[in-house]
Amino acid sequence: MGAAIVTFGECAQAAGRLADALGLPCAEVELRRFPDGESLVRVPPSPPTAILYRSLDDPNAKLVELVLAAAALRENGARRVLLVAPYLAYMRQDMAFRPGEAVSQRVIGQLLAAHFDALLTVDPHLHRIERLDQAVPDIPAISLSAAPVLASALNDAELLVGPDSESRQWVEAIAAPRRLEVLIGEKQRNGDREVAVTIQGIERAAGRSVVLVDDVISSGMTLVAAAQLLKQAGARSIEVVATHCLASREDIARLHAAGISRIRATDSVPGPLGCLPLTQLLAAALEPQLAAIALR
Ligand code: R5P
Repeated sequence: MGAAIVTFGECAQAAGRLADALGLPCAEVELRRFPDGESLVRVPPSPPTAILYRSLDDPNAKLVELVLAAAALRENGARRVLLVAPYLAYMRQDMAFRPGEAVSQRVIGQLLAAHFDALLTVDPHLHRIERLDQAVPDIPAISLSAAPVLASALNDAELLVGPDSESRQWVEAIAAPRRLEVLIGEKQRNGDREVAVTIQGIERAAGRSVVLVDDVISSGMTLVAAAQLLKQAGARSIEVVATHCLASREDIARLHAAGISRIRATDSVPGPLGCLPLTQLLAAALEPQLAAIALR
């Protein structure tokens, strides 16, 4: 077909699964960090279509390496470079909240659009815009929902809870096929790690198996606040499913201390909690793109 997946070491497992699903070869970018912090990027020879796979958690150095790799792939055989970034960073800041702030969503969106021919991601954190192509202009920018993958992990859930209004879309999408009961909380954020959550109807959690659903676990404090309320209300068990888990080891320990027995996320971000593979979702979205390219 003239396509290959090219990835970075930390994403090798998830990228390898995707390559297997698509029947494509998978190769790794060689990286070397100089003592001054710069990165040396070396790519393998590329077929005409390179699919660069990298999640953008901890994004600053990764973004620079990604842009260098895209340029090097074009110089080494690629006529088009598609980016698969299961977790896409810098999508939250879609306006300057205070004078002088960079609108990072726009800047990073334009940067990616300038270096890639298409972008595929999962549940980007969009607030005031509806479509990813409003942030990443002029190239096909595809945003997939992980809801079907999260739904497959629900087991014997009796009640689904979203901690804030933003989580409503995932909670309702997951609940609908099984007609599960849903509660949606209200969140007030007072700082990076300071959140207050209220959940109307929380008494319905008493004695039931509850699954908290969110798109991203960052500091984990949103879910800590929600879990504390559910525990006080007498939930029999509390689990979490989320699309992206960015939380540190300490954050995860805090989540368990709040009463959450199990936390599962997709493999969008490498880590021990990323046990729900996005492979089939990504492969199903990439197949028509590759077929269209093959016809050109
Ligand atoms: C909010 O809009 C998101 O859906 C998450 O609830 C939020 O980003 C989680 O952040 P943290 O884990 O830091 O509370």
